Amino acid sequence: MSKVKILALHGPNLNLLGQREPDVYGSMTLEEIDRALEDRGKKLGVSIDSYQSNHEGELVDRIQAAAIDFDGILINPAAFSHYSYALRDALSAAGLPVIEVHLSNVFARETFRHHSVITPVAEGMVCGLGPDSYLLGLEALVNILKKERR
Ligand code: DQA
Repeated sequence: MSKVKILALHGPNLNLLGQREPDVYGSMTLEEIDRALEDRGKKLGVSIDSYQSNHEGELVDRIQAAAIDFDGILINPAAFSHYSYALRDALSAAGLPVIEVHLSNVFARETFRHHSVITPVAEGMVCGLGPDSYLLGLEALVNILKKERR
């Protein structure tokens, strides 16, 4: 059986992690988060490709391409979570299991962050746990994919 392939997508401003509002987003850089995902992926027996973009259209292009090459998507859509119907439609059209993650607890912050247009097309959402949101989201996604393959 071929190896499960997961696409990890990071939305706008997440390239600044480590220096961006560390009191909210912590001190880990995106590179370090990607490395932690890769390590956890190895333990779980899956491969992970990571991609960050500040541009909505680039993320849409990646999601469209993922429908062919990947088995599932782990995504922190960042600010796009709150208003990007384009990302939501792309995720919905891809037809792959999606887990949405956020480093911060979006529900404990400004009200505009309480709503995500992505969550309805995701299997589930993990937030508020810093980099663990990504790692727990990855574990959940792998569980879903392993069940699908059984
Ligand atoms: C975020 C939360 C979003 O509201 C915000 O726009 C981000 C990061 C998080 O990971 O906590 O850029 O997705």
